[in-house]
Amino acid sequence: MTGHPASPNRADDGLPLDIRALMPGDLPATIAILTQGMRDNPLHVTVFGADPMDRRHRLARFLDPLVRYVHANGMMLGAFAQGELIGVLGMIRPGRCRPGAMERLRFARALLPGVPPASLLRIHRWLSAWASNDPPAPHWHIGPLAVLPDYRRRGIGRRLMLRCCQHVDSFAAMAWLETDLEINAGFYRTLGFELVSKKPVLGVPT
Ligand SMILES: CC(C)(COP(=O)(O)OP(=O)(O)OC[C@H]1O[C@@H](n2cnc3c(N)ncnc32)[C@H](O)[C@@H]1OP(=O)(O)O)[C@@H](O)C(=O)NCCC(=O)NCCS
Repeated sequence: MTGHPASPNRADDGLPLDIRALMPGDLPATIAILTQGMRDNPLHVTVFGADPMDRRHRLARFLDPLVRYVHANGMMLGAFAQGELIGVLGMIRPGRCRPGAMERLRFARALLPGVPPASLLRIHRWLSAWASNDPPAPHWHIGPLAVLPDYRRRGIGRRLMLRCCQHVDSFAAMAWLETDLEINAGFYRTLGFELVSKKPVLGVPT
């Protein structure tokens, strides 16, 4: 993975940035940023439905236990500009990216009241497809990642990823991630990631 010569404390346009590990009290804001930032990603449209309001609500229900799981089993990083959380990134430590039966049950319970059965089935198919692609070798599993729309293309996603890569590199470990957007694949390539496979998941190129 690559290093980066610019200051770790500023976005590309000089916006002062503080990137740090998030605390439990930051998690509601983290979920809100991810829900806003990832609402229109193609897999989320397929899984949670075409109506943007329904999709947002269902995605928030899905992300709540997921973000808490990532936080408990790895790290959530946050980018703060003048005290405001504007971007977040999760990373799960090696060996923990396949939740156990109890954790899956907890996810299902959190989802049940607000997510219709058809979406639940699609979530199951989606996550099973991803799990079947998971490399057997130990790896940090990266994601979710989002930057608030008003702050995009200012190097904040890159800063978060670089911090994440530094952490992974400090263990001389491998990192793995999935994306459903070609544009993001290009972004990750610039950070030293290599494309391992390209497959449709629920019909979405991933
Ligand atoms: C992906 C994401 C986190 C990138 O965050 P960001 O702060 O905008 O990223 P950066 O400013 O560091 O961009 C780095 C580079 O990625 C590429 N890139 C990122 N978004 C792009 C876009 N919408 N169009 C074209 N290139 C883009 C560019 O090469 C960019 O560098 P440049 O601005 O110098 O051309 C952000 O677009 C986002 O929140 N997207 C929605 C959620 C999502 O898809 N998350 C990832 C799931 S896998």
